[in-house]
Amino acid sequence: MSRVATAIAHPNIALAKYWGKREGEGNVPAVPSLSVTLAGMTTTTTVRFDASLASDELVLGGQKQVGRPLERASALLDTVRAHAKIDARAHVVSHNDFPTASGLASSASGFAALALAACRAASLDWDAARVSQLARASSASAARSLFGGFVALDGGDGALGVASPVVGPEALDVRVLVCVATERAKTTSSTDGMLFTQRESPYYRAWLDEAPRTFARLKSAILEGDVRAAFELAEKSALAMHACAMAAGVIYVSGVTLAALSEVRAMRADGLVTYATMDAGPHLKCLVPTSHADVAKERLARVPGVLRVLETRPGDAARIVETPSDTGRAFDASAEVR
Ligand code: DP6
Repeated sequence: MSRVATAIAHPNIALAKYWGKREGEGNVPAVPSLSVTLAGMTTTTTVRFDASLASDELVLGGQKQVGRPLERASALLDTVRAHAKIDARAHVVSHNDFPTASGLASSASGFAALALAACRAASLDWDAARVSQLARASSASAARSLFGGFVALDGGDGALGVASPVVGPEALDVRVLVCVATERAKTTSSTDGMLFTQRESPYYRAWLDEAPRTFARLKSAILEGDVRAAFELAEKSALAMHACAMAAGVIYVSGVTLAALSEVRAMRADGLVTYATMDAGPHLKCLVPTSHADVAKERLARVPGVLRVLETRPGDAARIVETPSDTGRAFDASAEVR
């Protein structure tokens, strides 16, 4: 019986950010968030359950993983095995076509693809909402990448950490321009950065109060199709999150991020509708209506230190793709499936 499946998932960028976890189990965010799933960047993950394996194996971008990345993948696989009532260990091959672990939300697309491929390989017939819950337990933002378009994730007191689609990818005619600032992985994971912020930031309380309000206003703006209002709130959310983290000594922005941010603002002063958002890494993402995207891309590419600008658009949900028949040997998903 075939115990193999390949899934693809796209990263997502939070417009209304989550930062901080609710107390207790399940990796539930402390505040609600709203993201856009991004076409143009893809994680492809193949899971093969194989009774002959002594332990789980994870190959990420051609590199065999040990330690924390393998433990995180195994924890997810353990949940799948428990529900599917199987014992076999898994061989997992995953590939990103964009920089890994540097604030480009690779953990979001990574765990979304892993969760979906593992469920299907184990013949668990879970719907997207249930697979999303599984992904959330590994990385909260991953819950949103199971869905396409604009996606909400609940958070805060009493919330269960459930993600749900708000509007589809076609609802807003926009682009997200990712200003790649480094090819290196970040030094502080978002998990650690959040814990530190919760413990040390004098502004964490203020963030918990304000973030749900920004989320609610942003969600309304999206539902109304008001691009400028949505972008304005997104920039506000990003700056509040970074200010809160920075006050605890957690700094993800670099000189390149700030140079790109001032160019985004200069373009705005010149009449373009350009806004910025940043995550747990130095890459600035410029939010722009499609009609202004070409000019914005050109100007951002000229910012000193910006290595290149990736143009992305609202994208589709995570999905299963064709797999080669399971030959029982290890195979490289990036070579054989894509
Ligand atoms: C800044 O979902 O990566 O991108 O659950 O600990 O893996 P873990 O954190 P993660 O945090 C994402 C933080 C953010 C904002 C957001 O995506 O909402």
